[in-house]
Amino acid sequence: KIKHVIGREILDSRGYPTVEVDVVLESGHRGRMMVPSGASTGKFEAWELRDGEPTRFQGKGVRKAVDHINHELSKAVAGVEAGEHHTLDQLLIELDGTPNKSRVGANAILGVSFAAAHAQAAAEGLPLYRYFANRFLAEGDTPVLPLPMVNIISGGLHAGGHIDIQDFLIMPVGAASYPEALEMISSVYFRTQRLLAAKGYQSRLLADEGGFGPALGSHEEALDILCEAIEACGYKLRDDMAIALDVAASHFYDEDKGIYRLGADHRMLQSDEMAALLETWVDRYPIVSIEDGLAEEDWSGWVRLTERLGHKVQLVGDDLFTTNRERIQRGLLEKAGNAVLIKMNQIGTLTETVEAIRLAKSAGMLTVISARSGETEDYTLADLAVGLNGGQIKIGSVAGSSRLAKYNQLLRIHEDIGSHYAGRAAFQGRFA
Ligand code: PGA
Ligand code: ZN
Repeated sequence: KIKHVIGREILDSRGYPTVEVDVVLESGHRGRMMVPSGASTGKFEAWELRDGEPTRFQGKGVRKAVDHINHELSKAVAGVEAGEHHTLDQLLIELDGTPNKSRVGANAILGVSFAAAHAQAAAEGLPLYRYFANRFLAEGDTPVLPLPMVNIISGGLHAGGHIDIQDFLIMPVGAASYPEALEMISSVYFRTQRLLAAKGYQSRLLADEGGFGPALGSHEEALDILCEAIEACGYKLRDDMAIALDVAASHFYDEDKGIYRLGADHRMLQSDEMAALLETWVDRYPIVSIEDGLAEEDWSGWVRLTERLGHKVQLVGDDLFTTNRERIQRGLLEKAGNAVLIKMNQIGTLTETVEAIRLAKSAGMLTVISARSGETEDYTLADLAVGLNGGQIKIGSVAGSSRLAKYNQLLRIHEDIGSHYAGRAAFQGRFA
């Protein structure tokens, strides 16, 4: 049973405040969760409560959320079984009383919800991924180390702003194990850095997720450089190492005019022209996955994009679905997208996150368990991805402790479960 919870304001990887929660059980066991924070957030995400006091951290303080944890939430959850996640999360949702968790803050709620799982896993003497698997994994499913989707070159809201597309990523589909995958990722990361430097680009400054943010002349140049780096490492394009994009198209979409504005390419595109551009890239480059290729509001465009490319590449909805069951249901009904990006703080509780994963998986959508651009040394994401057999994980580059906390946790889990690495099987034979 929960005795009390403690909230505090800590700083994240961007140096902005975020929420940390300790859940303390009557037995003395404790669990801790640090809450991530996005920059390229979707319109339909649960609400991250910030103080808005201009004199503290540019208005980004989270003292109000922390206050709610230490008083209202702590009192409400005292005596509740930490392992009864549905009951606990329902209580938190009802206490908040708003559809998007904006009164007490999704950051406050998420912290309590996940810290309870940490505490209960500790009480049961289980590693967190095993605890998640015991609790939430469907019959016949097993914990597997996920295939990483790794940011190498950044643009959009995460970098200097020359390139509109947010992430150019690599996926080590041909690795035989997770440690080998990590080695391959590191090789390509540093090879890209050397290539950028040799071409006269800034290669020392890192974007929000640890990728490089050079002022490239075009999107194709980013794709060419990635291919060159992969081959220079001795890996075969597509067979060993494939490419993924996070277009994050909501962030350069003009909703009133229905136009995508690609500043770097001086292009103004209609929805179908944007899809056609993506198709030319898919045909020319070893791309296996495209996230948010179109905007969160452009449902009809998404349906046509999925018809056009859904048999060739993974089409991941991030801003489109915001880890929200109703939006995923709509995607299934209308056949928009074929994969779901899972971000726990987009929805705000452990049970709702698990439900989103289970819904996607049971309906044949693939899942990518994802970090945010603002992260901490918290490693819960790694355990969630393995424990729920999420298939793929998106953490950021192999740079900065907030990212490495997760990559390193996966190494520890690998020690436990050995060779169970998803690799290209994460695509279930559909795209790679
Ligand atoms: P965010 O972006 O964490 O800044 O919202 C990550 C993504 O778009 O996948
Ligand atoms: Zn995204």
